[in-house]
Amino acid sequence: MTAVSADTGRTSQAAAAIRHHYDVGNAFYSLWLDRSLTYSCAMPAGDDDTLEAAQERKIRFHLDAIGAGQATSVLDIGCGWGAVLARLAETHRVARAVGLTLSDEQAAYVRDRGYPGVEVRTDNWLDYEPAAPFDGIISIGAFEHFATPADPPAEKVRLYREFFRRCHGWLNQGGVLSLQTIAYANMSRDDASAFMQREIFPNADLPTLAEITAAAEGVFEVRSVSNGRLDYAWTCERWARRLRSRRDEAAGLVGPETVARYERYLKLSALGFRMGKICLLRIVLRPYDQRYFAGSGDRRYFAGPGE
Ligand SMILES: C[S@@+](CC[C@H](N)C(=O)[O-])C[C@H]1O[C@@H](n2cnc3c(N)ncnc32)[C@H](O)[C@@H]1O
Repeated sequence: MTAVSADTGRTSQAAAAIRHHYDVGNAFYSLWLDRSLTYSCAMPAGDDDTLEAAQERKIRFHLDAIGAGQATSVLDIGCGWGAVLARLAETHRVARAVGLTLSDEQAAYVRDRGYPGVEVRTDNWLDYEPAAPFDGIISIGAFEHFATPADPPAEKVRLYREFFRRCHGWLNQGGVLSLQTIAYANMSRDDASAFMQREIFPNADLPTLAEITAAAEGVFEVRSVSNGRLDYAWTCERWARRLRSRRDEAAGLVGPETVARYERYLKLSALGFRMGKICLLRIVLRPYDQRYFAGSGDRRYFAGPGE
C-alpha cells in the first residue's frame, strides 16, 4: 500500500477528532490556560513559577532551537491559538510564518489577531504543500494526534517517517525541526485509559521514543532529547487548579459534565507524568543531507575520491 492510499481518509478522521477536543470553545480554554493560550507542556523554573513565565520559557526554547533570530520563514505544525506565531511575528519579525491547525476555532482566533507575515491554514500536514521551504519548523503537541489506536506499530512508524520525510523536504539548508510530544514511557498502549481515548482524545495514540527515532533514522539526526515529564505534571496541575477556581463560569459555557471531564483528564494526566507512565519529549532534529539518504541510490557518500 502506498503512503498516499494508506492516508486517504486519515485526514477527515483527524479533523473530526481535533474538532471534538479543540472546538469546545475559545472562551472555555481562556478560563484556564495562560494569556497566550498555549496548550502544551510549559518549562517552569521552579515550583513557584507562574504559568505565563513557564510557557514563555518553553516557547523561547523552541525558537532558540530553530535559530528564529536568523530565520525569515518558519512553519508551526499544530499552531493552536498561535502563541509561537505571535512571537515569530512580533519579536523576531519573521517575514513568513505559517501555522497549521485542524481546528476552525483556533484558525479564526489567529486570523483575528492580524499578525504581520502570518498565515494560518486549516490543513493537515499530510495534505500541505508549501509554496516555498522554511528556515525552521516547530511542532509542539501535535505529534500525539497523528496515529490512531487502530494503527499497528509498523504503520505508526511509517506514518511518523512520512512526517519526517516531508519536514525534511520543507526545510532550507541548515534548517532545524524542534519537536515536542507526549510519549508512552513506563506503560504499553494496551494499558492506555479508555476514558482518555474515548472521551478526551478520540482516535489518537501516543508514540514511543523508539518509534520516533526509528521513524527519523536516515532522515534526521537527533541533536538532543530531553524528558520534561515533571514539567508537564506541573503544567497539568496548574491548569486543573485554574479550571477548578473558575468552575462555575466554565460550566456556564460548556456545561458541568464537560468541566468534570476536563478536570478528570487533567488530574489523570498529571498523575501519569508524575508516575512516569507517560513522558514529555523535546527533540531537536537536524536533517541529514539528502545525498546521504539510506536507500536513495546515491552512492556519493561511499564512493572514493575522484569517483
Ligand atoms: C495540543 S494543541 C498544541 C497547540 C500549540 N502548539 C501549543 O503548544 O499551544 C495541538 C495542535 O495540533 C493540531 N494538529 C493535530 N494534528 C494535526 C495534523 N495532522 N495536522 C495539522 N495540525 C494538527 C491541532 O489542531 C492543535 O492546533
